[in-house]
Amino acid sequence: MRQKLLMGNWKMNKSYSQAVDIAQQLSYRASDFSGVETVVCPPFTSLKGVQNVFSFDNTPIKLGAQDVFWEENGAYTGFISAEMLKDLSVSYCIIGHSERRQNAGDTDEDIQKKAQALLKYGITPVICVGEPPVVHEARNSSDFVIEQLARALSGLEGAKDLVIAYEPIWAIGSGNVAAPEFAGEVCHALRVVVEKAFGKGFADKTRVLYGGSVMAENAGAYLMQDDIDGLLVGSASLDENSFSAIAKQM
Ligand code: 13P
Repeated sequence: MRQKLLMGNWKMNKSYSQAVDIAQQLSYRASDFSGVETVVCPPFTSLKGVQNVFSFDNTPIKLGAQDVFWEENGAYTGFISAEMLKDLSVSYCIIGHSERRQNAGDTDEDIQKKAQALLKYGITPVICVGEPPVVHEARNSSDFVIEQLARALSGLEGAKDLVIAYEPIWAIGSGNVAAPEFAGEVCHALRVVVEKAFGKGFADKTRVLYGGSVMAENAGAYLMQDDIDGLLVGSASLDENSFSAIAKQM
């Protein structure tokens, strides 16, 4: 049995004080999150503040980062290494999010190098894949994300833990939700990619998440799909009420 995983991606939202504030709100209602492994991914500037709140309150919510650079250290202005994240008790790190592929030019090869750097420090990579609207309209969604994932996975043999997130670009922040059965089928196809790369045992324990306009109202329908093991939530994770309403359905 795979444990369900709920991740909140705050993206470029919340100042330090706002991040600490919502971390406190989430801590007060920690019991809402007791049935599910929960991770929040604040901007880098708030990782330490959020971690302080969770460790002071002994809150079971874990910390994730939104990106990493693959080099260990050196003259890389503005980048953050896996070792730096590990030092802040980061357990998970999103890589390959479509917003980074689009705005920062991240390629599948970059994502593979980022995953390797994270694995070296015991941080679980959350590898995001997702197709643009034109691919979806041409009904090529599965083929597109299968190739994206296969490229990202090459060279990751020996990984202890990976999380895969299917986030169709046309569903992110748009309110255009993917039909749960469709999302379930694509997530199944992604699990088959993991199986081909690393074998059935590893694929059976790898969690595949869905993300894209997830709200309390539609979360339950995704979770009913056999191959969807959790949710990667953007806007609805920015408010403690909507995030905990999703957690209660998991
Ligand atoms: P929304 O939930 O705002 O659509 O964002 C999804 C996402 O990109 C999570 O990484």
